[in-house]
Amino acid sequence: MKTLSSVLVAASMLAAPLPAAAQSGASPPPALSPAPLPIKRCINLGGTLERKAEGLYGNTVLDREDIRRVAAAGFDTIRLPVRWDTRSSAEPPHKVDPEWMARVAEVVDWALAENLNVVLDSHHFADLFTRPQTRAPVHAAIWAQIATRFADYPEDRLFFELENEPYGNGETESVLHILEGSLAAVRQSNPTRPVIMGGGGYGSLTAMVTMDLPDDPHVYPTFHYYAPAPFTHQGARWAGQDAPAQLRTFGSEEDRAALRRAGEAVEAYIRRTGHRPFLGETGTYKLYTPLGQRVEYLAAVYDTFAPLGVSVCAWSYEGPFGMYDTQNGEWYPGMLEAMDLPPR
Ligand code: BGC
Repeated sequence: MKTLSSVLVAASMLAAPLPAAAQSGASPPPALSPAPLPIKRCINLGGTLERKAEGLYGNTVLDREDIRRVAAAGFDTIRLPVRWDTRSSAEPPHKVDPEWMARVAEVVDWALAENLNVVLDSHHFADLFTRPQTRAPVHAAIWAQIATRFADYPEDRLFFELENEPYGNGETESVLHILEGSLAAVRQSNPTRPVIMGGGGYGSLTAMVTMDLPDDPHVYPTFHYYAPAPFTHQGARWAGQDAPAQLRTFGSEEDRAALRRAGEAVEAYIRRTGHRPFLGETGTYKLYTPLGQRVEYLAAVYDTFAPLGVSVCAWSYEGPFGMYDTQNGEWYPGMLEAMDLPPR
């Protein structure tokens, strides 16, 4: 999530009536096609491989112990945000630095060895949605290489997510159009692997429920949920005036009603389309937010979406939105339980 006005707009749009098709919830849901992703409880290993370098901004360099810890806590899946564009040559064929590809594969292999599924995504691909004519072909060239590298990996365990949080001019229709070449590039070597795609507005729920997915039975919709942003992002520098550094609590009747409406929108979407979405990010910035409130928010979001069969992925393992306290070497009390995991 980078700017918040889009999220606020998206949240307010959820109050509006759903399109007629989405309201016809009375009929039984269509057979799920494709089968839902085998994800129940997921955690983002965010802020690490997506940055300029590993180990910046309050994150550590991921090691095998981190992966073991996540698996031992009971998560079944990690989402692995990776920055690719800065690790690839500027000129065609935009070759990904082999050392970088090997490092990403190392983390993926660790996760699979711990029986964790992996959602491998592309994060922060510069200018993709603002200069798509020049950037989309580069994105596609890089995805062709990622897809080839992992083509032999089990497709019921490793999933690709083409790009985190489409933004900018990204009307949903154009988001799909911009990512068309990358999907085609993946399909050359991975004809049936699950590919996850979100809509505009930084992957908002509103964009997801109104977008038509590509004509591909192995594409899964995703959205991110950080509403209300002035609570989840209070004091986050990049959120600016949208989320000032002052205590904004969560839990008012209005907050709960907004969450209920979001749940209803997702439920209607599942009935209408047969697709169970992947909630790829939700969480709270920890600088000003008391732990109890962070726990309350995560539990409220999890309890809203998980019963609908939606896969939930917390943002994030460590760092400024962290569930794990790297300094004290423990999970923040209550955070695992918020996702119905046993305390540790
Ligand atoms: C961004 C992170 C950010 C998080 C919450 C992610 O998609 O990549 O930088 O901390 O959203 O805003």
